[in-house]
Amino acid sequence: MFPLRLKEGPEPIFPACSGEIRRSVRMAKSKKGEDKDMGKVAIYPGSFDPITYGHIDVVERALEIFDKVIVAIAVNEEKRPLFSVEERLHMVKAFFKDTPKVIVDSFKGLLVDYVAKTNAIVILRGLRATSDFEYEFHMASMNRSLDTHLDTLFMMTSKDYFFVSSRTIKEVARLGGAVEGLVPDLVVRRLREKFKLPVTKKKHIRWDD
Ligand code: PNS
Repeated sequence: MFPLRLKEGPEPIFPACSGEIRRSVRMAKSKKGEDKDMGKVAIYPGSFDPITYGHIDVVERALEIFDKVIVAIAVNEEKRPLFSVEERLHMVKAFFKDTPKVIVDSFKGLLVDYVAKTNAIVILRGLRATSDFEYEFHMASMNRSLDTHLDTLFMMTSKDYFFVSSRTIKEVARLGGAVEGLVPDLVVRRLREKFKLPVTKKKHIRWDD
């Protein structure tokens, strides 16, 4: 029975990451040592380089479904992030400082390995457009093949943020464009510092000016 096998697929590469283990770690030890049910926990992994209101919208909506959301920042130097993992952690933690249902953490290596160490029951990802689908489908399928019990839940990004991505935010900010309202104020300030831009708000052009 354990580890479970896909009908015709390979044996799970990381049997230790099976859902059986994850279900048993869902019961976390309290300070007194007794088992404490953490409720339904989702893990929201990503680069968050930097966090945007698109990400935040997904987390806030997920909190309607889950008891806790772990925002897990991937440490992947190959992607040459603009912000160090410490900077990203600081920005995300600062935003959610008054939301105890959100846990902010970072991880190295395979996501399935990290998930196995937590009490999360599902991976959460946002989908903005059909163009995201192929990448997300491959990633969810790969994670499922590494851990046959691990599902990915997709949430459509709200219409206000479907055009917002960390990549375009960085490009716009680097070129001096306004990103206020698309990322938290702290992120706006950090972007301006990174790109050595003045802290003044940029005025939007109005066509009737
Ligand atoms: O915000 P991103 O860059 O789209 O997030 C991608 C992320 C970090 C979720 C993905 O690259 C990841 O899970 N990285 C950890 C390494 C891993 O497990 N890779 C195999 C899954 S395809």
